[in-house]
Amino acid sequence: MHSSHLTLGALLFAGLAAADAAPPSVSAGAKKSEVCQGCHGANGVSADDSVPKLAGQYSEYIVKQIFDFQIQSRRDDRMSPMAGMVTSLEDARDIAAYFSSQTPMRGKPNKSKSAQLGKQIYDKGIPERNIEACARCHGPDGKGKWKNYALFPVIGGQHKTYLLKQLNDFKTSRRATDASGVMTLIGRNLEKAELDALTEYIAGL
Ligand code: HEC
Ligand code: HEC
Repeated sequence: MHSSHLTLGALLFAGLAAADAAPPSVSAGAKKSEVCQGCHGANGVSADDSVPKLAGQYSEYIVKQIFDFQIQSRRDDRMSPMAGMVTSLEDARDIAAYFSSQTPMRGKPNKSKSAQLGKQIYDKGIPERNIEACARCHGPDGKGKWKNYALFPVIGGQHKTYLLKQLNDFKTSRRATDASGVMTLIGRNLEKAELDALTEYIAGL
């Protein structure tokens, strides 16, 4: 069990770097991800708001998160055993290609007072408290930036419940997947009401 995880990890980084690897297959991914679709939705839009949408998510980011659950830099009672079932880099890339090819996630625009505060922090950050603008890395509409930055996830239109849990997991370092530590700082330096406002706004993008 353990050695197969390490192997996938080694393959992952080799694979991300290898330009000549076989291209991932969306149709193979559709079959290989049947069990995943049970929670994440056949169209990548999960019904349960504690389960993230994967529709239109960057494939490189999806592959990285599968690996992160395997090495336990991220843990979840429902998801960790599922990540353990993905035992080859080829399977991870095919599954990721399937979800990534779907119509990108989208939320219902939200104009509440709280969402307006969220938008201000999202667009401008809080420079005097060392909070960077989210838009700088996640794009102005939360749909990510461009291919070279595919490890910065799509967050616009994601479920609010899920987003809030992730920011709290970064805060407590239960989720330690962000090598730069930027997300941990954000989780720690923002007030509860600010995290709430941000996730309300982002979910509506
Ligand atoms: C029993 C329900 C369930 C199943 C089945 C499931 N997942 Fe998940 N998945 C979750 C939950 C819950 C989370 C969020 C965990 C957390 O809060 O950190 C998650 C998170 C993820 C994430 C992280 C997304 C992000 O935005 O960071 C990826 C990628 C993922 N799952 C892929 C898969 C794949 C691939 C499969 C199939 C091999 C799968 N999941 C099967 C419940 C499930
Ligand atoms: C310097 C770049 C950078 C900035 C600025 C930034 N992020 Fe992130 N964010 C990242 C990276 C990289 C990840 C993915 C970490 C990983 O691999 O798990 C991430 C992940 C996330 C996630 C988890 C997404 C998921 O699907 O699980 C959320 C939510 C998030 N960021 C919200 C924010 C918010 C809100 C702000 C602004 C207050 C922000 N980010 C600012 C780089 C950034």
